[in-house]
Amino acid sequence: MTSPTRTFPSTRMRRNRRTPWLRNLVRENTLTPADFIWPIFVVGGTGERQTVVSMPGVERLSVDLVVQAVKDAHDLGIPMVAIFPFIEENLKTLDAAEAWNNDNLVCRAVRAIKDAVPDIGVMCDVALDPFNSDGHDGIVQGEKILNDETVELLVKQSINQANAGCDIIAPSDMMDGRILALRNGLDTTGYEDVAIMSYAAKYASGFYGPFRDAVGSGGALKGDKKTYQMDPANTDEAMHEVSLDISEGADMVMVKPGLPYLDIVRRVKDTFAMPTFAYNVSGEYAMLRGAGDAGWLDYDVVMMETLMGFKRAGADGVLTYHAIDAAKILND
Ligand code: PBG
Repeated sequence: MTSPTRTFPSTRMRRNRRTPWLRNLVRENTLTPADFIWPIFVVGGTGERQTVVSMPGVERLSVDLVVQAVKDAHDLGIPMVAIFPFIEENLKTLDAAEAWNNDNLVCRAVRAIKDAVPDIGVMCDVALDPFNSDGHDGIVQGEKILNDETVELLVKQSINQANAGCDIIAPSDMMDGRILALRNGLDTTGYEDVAIMSYAAKYASGFYGPFRDAVGSGGALKGDKKTYQMDPANTDEAMHEVSLDISEGADMVMVKPGLPYLDIVRRVKDTFAMPTFAYNVSGEYAMLRGAGDAGWLDYDVVMMETLMGFKRAGADGVLTYHAIDAAKILND
């Protein structure tokens, strides 16, 4: 806290801001490419590169091009990528069975990346929505998203991903009890070293819109996700969610979305002192990128300022579609 004896004019706060070297010297937080997890969208085929209209600058890439992109990310110092698949409509079913097909798009991408770039971490999302013809993260029965039945399927999905070589399992589904079930499932199949980063405090957010375009789950989605994702008005509930996931075996926890929930990031970090991550989601990317492209904001400046904001709030790292752009700036 500020000492009451520090008063103007003997104290002049601007003294420490006078030059670049002084500002470097007193800087409290830093940003490096090692702070980023880069989410990438994978599509079938080869040589395939598709634009995502609501996320300018982000593309869906076929596995061969993903491998090249991941090599570039590794060269820039990015420690991990997160894989999200665009699944063809004819492979989506009510039971989302493609999620545990051992040759599905996610598995093919993980194997190809691990083969070509063994020193980068690969994280896989655990949730049924890319594979589910209902567009929900769990199994739908009437108006209900079934919890315990879904958790059993998530275990199958995660073992399938671990089997393909995934390093970190990231359940984004918000079903109750899934971390315990996933940990048991992984441990009993020989994957005790596969870590779990839980989407512990995930809110029902409008900022996921562009992501649902990118993975093609938006059109399919019936209703909303408010019976499993959190109410944006709540804070204490996030503490319970995070606490449960830690006690069930999560190695790292995540808050999502990022920017409108930096208070949650700070509270989680201060309360649990766990490796804590924030997901700077698709809609947050679209806002900065869209305003930058329109000439309303300086994209590079607001991007770096935003990413530093996550560090200042207590995040150990950020999942961000800006990862490549930001890493290039940091490496310059
Ligand atoms: C799927 C999932 C979503 C995101 C990550 N995993 C969307 C959702 O829950 O509807 C959102 C990521 C983003 O918006 O960038 N369970």
